[in-house]
Amino acid sequence: MPTSTEPGRPDPQTNTLSPGHDGRPVSDRGDTVCVIGAGASGLTAVKNLTEHGFGVDCYERETGVGGAWNWRHDRSPVYASTHLISSRPFTQFPDFPMPDHWPDYPHHRQLLSYFERYADHFDLRRHIWFGTEVVRVEPVDDDRWDVTTRSTGGYGPERTSRYAAVVVANGHNWSPKLPRYEGLEQFRGEVMHASSYKDSAQLRGKRVLVVGAGNTGCDIAVEAAQQASRCWHSTRRGYWYAPKYVFGRPADQVNDLLLALRVPLRVRQWLYHRTLRLTVGDLTRFGLPKPDHRVYETHLIANSLLVYHVGHGAITPVPDIERLHPHSVELTDGRQIDPELVVFATGYLPRFEFLDGKILGDDEGVGRPRLWLNALVPDHPTLAVTGLLQPDSGIFPLAHWQAVLFARLLQTRASAPQRAAAFAARVRAGAGERYSGQVKDSTRHWFEVGHADYLRALERALRELESK
Ligand SMILES: Cc1cc2nc3c(=O)[nH]c(=O)nc-3n(C[C@H](O)[C@H](O)[C@H](O)COP(=O)(O)OP(=O)(O)OC[C@H]3O[C@@H](n4cnc5c(N)ncnc54)[C@H](O)[C@@H]3O)c2cc1C
Ligand SMILES: NC(=O)c1ccc[n+]([C@@H]2O[C@H](COP(=O)([O-])OP(=O)(O)OC[C@H]3O[C@@H](n4cnc5c(N)ncnc54)[C@H](OP(=O)(O)O)[C@@H]3O)[C@@H](O)[C@H]2O)c1
Repeated sequence: MPTSTEPGRPDPQTNTLSPGHDGRPVSDRGDTVCVIGAGASGLTAVKNLTEHGFGVDCYERETGVGGAWNWRHDRSPVYASTHLISSRPFTQFPDFPMPDHWPDYPHHRQLLSYFERYADHFDLRRHIWFGTEVVRVEPVDDDRWDVTTRSTGGYGPERTSRYAAVVVANGHNWSPKLPRYEGLEQFRGEVMHASSYKDSAQLRGKRVLVVGAGNTGCDIAVEAAQQASRCWHSTRRGYWYAPKYVFGRPADQVNDLLLALRVPLRVRQWLYHRTLRLTVGDLTRFGLPKPDHRVYETHLIANSLLVYHVGHGAITPVPDIERLHPHSVELTDGRQIDPELVVFATGYLPRFEFLDGKILGDDEGVGRPRLWLNALVPDHPTLAVTGLLQPDSGIFPLAHWQAVLFARLLQTRASAPQRAAAFAARVRAGAGERYSGQVKDSTRHWFEVGHADYLRALERALRELESK
């Protein structure tokens, strides 16, 4: 059996093992691991797997690295003004610091250059097949996987290669979540999802309604406040709008300090409420709805400008949409407004259409995988998902350690199969575990994790895997 650990294009002519399920030729890549996606999570998977001695083929449907942060690609959700909301030291990979002279919250262009340098520094590009999308991932005997790819856009023939393991690093912030409302199809104004929002010029001079108050909705509302002729901001609940800096430090660094000091959640919540009271004050005074939850029970909004523009009258907070009419939008309080442009900043949903949802434990078919550590798949020890996280801090260090754990697990399967089998039982028992405090029931919190709790859980898993 070929045991290709060399990088090289999977070639059905040279490595054909046997026909696949439906008679198509399958190129056997031996011990090679397949990584899907070359965003932050895929790149760190390629890097850590190769450092652990594995051959890797990475498929990326776009033409460059960087995933969401490569805004030249149509599917990138970042817009011209996007800066990190997690601060630099808490976002960078642990073994590849961002330059010291970069700001606390770098711009998306800097992020893309960071990923390009990461790929070059660790010589990752030779493992990546750009412009190639994965269309099917199917389990075969011995915990191996048949991965079918084709050129992005469907040109050319499909080809299937067999891998020892697969890392799914396809990101979860690119497939728009669009709410349904009565009358939406009849509405004569312009309607877009925030995924199509690229530049504030799209708002200039228009009467704009922004729906949703995740970080995207708040950013777009702030830009509309400066560019549009009118901005309404519709939310279905009240939120805590936290500044990017607290006590002169980036907010996530202050939060991390409190976590490191093991300050209990209730005390942290109290401190945060006090700090917000002392700075922005009572939000309802601005016409914003009272939050229906405590701080940390929704994904944190880091935006120092939203309340400022509400205070200037440039953003009008309004409740949820009841229905749309051809020339107006009716709100749940009965008011009618007349936007020319409605921007749904209502978030994103994960998509794994190349994989049977049941494999990821999505038995109800709602699109939510059931994994341990948001990464390891019960009953499929050679499959992992990385980056399926929404932390209260930067995602890249967490994806790095997920990749290290999976690489060590694959090594353990070869060197100590009994220990790997015991670990598999642990994966089954832990599936669905959460690593955050209580959060509001919303699809946007499916993958919410507190970074400190999550990293501790990963560390424990690594110790368990490696203990004799
Ligand atoms: C506006 C915005 C701002 C954000 N700000 C922050 C922040 O400040 N800090 C932070 O940590 N996170 C932030 N995030 C979260 C962001 O998702 C992560 O930073 C990061 O992009 C996750 O990397 P990833 O590799 O998991 O996913 P992605 O960056 O989405 O990369 C996935 C890659 O997989 C590829 N792919 C998908 N499907 C296939 C397929 N079938 N075949 C082949 N290739 C495929 C895609 O083309 C893409 O290149 C932000 C997200 C948004 C939307
Ligand atoms: N670096 C940056 O500056 C930056 C900028 C933007 C985004 N991001 C990150 O990108 C990720 C995605 O953020 P996002 O803001 O696009 O999405 P999000 O966090 O999922 O927020 C979606 C918003 O839309 C609302 N919503 C969802 N469905 C709705 C419905 N049916 N009707 C009415 N409202 C609805 C949600 O309300 P509920 O709260 O009620 O669910 C929420 O307010 C997050 O991790 C975020 O932190 C970062």
